[in-house]
Amino acid sequence: MQLQGKHIVLGLSGGIACYKAAELCRAMVKEGAAVQVVMTEAAAQFITPVTMQALSGRPVFDSQWDRRPGNNMAHINLSREADAILIAPASADFMAKLLHGRADDLLSLLCLARPIATVPLLIAPAMNREMWSHPATQRNVAQLRVDGSHVLDVGAGDQACGEQGDGRMLEAAEILEDLIAHFQPKLLQGQHVLITAGPTFEALDPVRGISNLSSGKMGFAIARAAREAGARVTLVAGPVALDSPRGVQRIDVRSAQEMLQACIAHADASDILIATAAVADWRSADAAEHKIKKAGSGLPPALTLVENPDILATLAASDRGRSGALFCVGFAAESQNLLELASAKRLRKGVPLMVGNIGPQTFGQDDNALLLIDAQGASEWPRNTKIALARQLVARIAEQRTTTHFHTR
Ligand code: CTP
Repeated sequence: MQLQGKHIVLGLSGGIACYKAAELCRAMVKEGAAVQVVMTEAAAQFITPVTMQALSGRPVFDSQWDRRPGNNMAHINLSREADAILIAPASADFMAKLLHGRADDLLSLLCLARPIATVPLLIAPAMNREMWSHPATQRNVAQLRVDGSHVLDVGAGDQACGEQGDGRMLEAAEILEDLIAHFQPKLLQGQHVLITAGPTFEALDPVRGISNLSSGKMGFAIARAAREAGARVTLVAGPVALDSPRGVQRIDVRSAQEMLQACIAHADASDILIATAAVADWRSADAAEHKIKKAGSGLPPALTLVENPDILATLAASDRGRSGALFCVGFAAESQNLLELASAKRLRKGVPLMVGNIGPQTFGQDDNALLLIDAQGASEWPRNTKIALARQLVARIAEQRTTTHFHTR
């Protein structure tokens, strides 16, 4: 319930993307939001107010002459109640209207009447690619941003008109993610966060290898939380089956050595490293070029393993790591004695913060329990969803970086 207690005005202007607004409305309600739908006359040509009423559970407003409100001022009432106004879809025409402060229908009227300092306006554009790239539209988008609106990205690809390009509305799930992100405190604004996630895969031959059960979910949740907090995020991911969080630069790697190279390439530009990856400790000394065949003797092949580089320890021991310019956070995956083993691991890796968790109880799960260990001591964070823990961790890192201290011992 990531929008619990939020009151959102969902405004629809005219466009074929109105069909996505139905799904978006439902998704917002599922996350706990109270959704008040307001539609323009053009929007009602694409989807009926009845549909939106059924999905939002509230009567839809579509006219400034609606006599239902006691004071007859729907535009004032609706804009004062809202925690945010989200226009999805926002047509080119509707954005042009907003830009000029025109107010000849209820939706544009309430956007103009909103208390600009306290009620954010989010705009999800939706239009044909030529309309989107037209200088008039681009000028309007730029000016709407200057005027304090949050214009979301557009999607690219197939369009309803049969053409291909930029301009279609984001998917409902993407808009929902941006809306939820909008409400998170911007604790890492302007910071660059580097995150490792998932397992690594160390080839033994072209079809087999050494890996582990890490799903990458914790690292991906932290990437999402860091981006929500305003950070620029680079996510170096081992082989996982997860979609990238929005707005995150993702680099896919396979082996520990590839992960190390990717991290080294981005470490100098980073302020924070959060190493959640379950890096395979060993790799084959000489991966076979072709599939290793059974010898027929019943004996297993003689595999020679060598230790992989320690990515976290390497970066923590760099000049920027030691000075704290790169604030390094490790994750300790243990199966027992968490406090003892994770504390020792923190000192061994030379990092100011180590997050302990029990591997078998977190790998693949959507929730987790954490034990945070720094130079001052340990604190237990009880079981919660990974995204909730990730937001808590981002807040903790933001605080620890600016207040205390940089102590590894
Ligand atoms: N780590 C790393 N590179 C490695 C091994 C671990 O960057 N080659 C990082 C992990 O991403 C994690 C932390 O170090 O942040 C601890 O990883 P973990 O697998 O718990 O510990 P190991 O160092 O592998 O030690 P052990 O296997 O003895 O528990």
